[in-house]
Amino acid sequence: PLKLGVLGSGSGSNMQAILDAIDSGELHAEIVLVLSDNPEGYILERARKAGIVAEVIDCGGYKTKFPEEKQAAVAAQLKEAGVELVCLAGFMRLVKQPMLDVFPERILNIHPSLLPAYPGLMAWKQAVDDGAQESGCTVHYVDAGMDTGPIIKQAKVPVLADDTADSLHQRIQVEEHKLYPEVVAAIGQKLRQ
Ligand code: GAR
Repeated sequence: PLKLGVLGSGSGSNMQAILDAIDSGELHAEIVLVLSDNPEGYILERARKAGIVAEVIDCGGYKTKFPEEKQAAVAAQLKEAGVELVCLAGFMRLVKQPMLDVFPERILNIHPSLLPAYPGLMAWKQAVDDGAQESGCTVHYVDAGMDTGPIIKQAKVPVLADDTADSLHQRIQVEEHKLYPEVVAAIGQKLRQ
């Protein structure tokens, strides 16, 4: 199985969707390490319940910065665990060169919009505030920019007239939970060829 490392900051529902796809046999992979910069992130609890090693990334009190030396340490930890593909799943810090150098074209992210529209924070709210008719989610390779790496696959959802930021996010998440495991499975097959 393809060895995955997952980085998150929040609820971890996308990590859970990947786990569920592994359990159901749709995805031939194994999550070997879960890391969260947020010690309160439910992703840690979900991982531990599934018997996966789950640890906190200590960013030394910085709210948004992911210090370079920390990134190098995280990359080393992922390598040490045998990780072949890194999945960002609601990870709210920018991954930069120290990690990209160790995992070139091996870091994926899921973003809750149809990139290049609405990069950055709370993309679902940006879509509603902007009066968009359509939004969705994107899985892309991570580069040093913010949500700018090469797009692998997208799924669309309509924005309804009475949508709130929350209701749109919920509809997007339903698609995220299908799209992310599907793309990870496809990349896994490609890497094994
Ligand atoms: C997801 O909707 C993901 O697309 C988004 O955060 C949520 C995490 O949910 N990511 C970003 O906004 C990244 N810029 P989860 O913790 O339940 O998977």
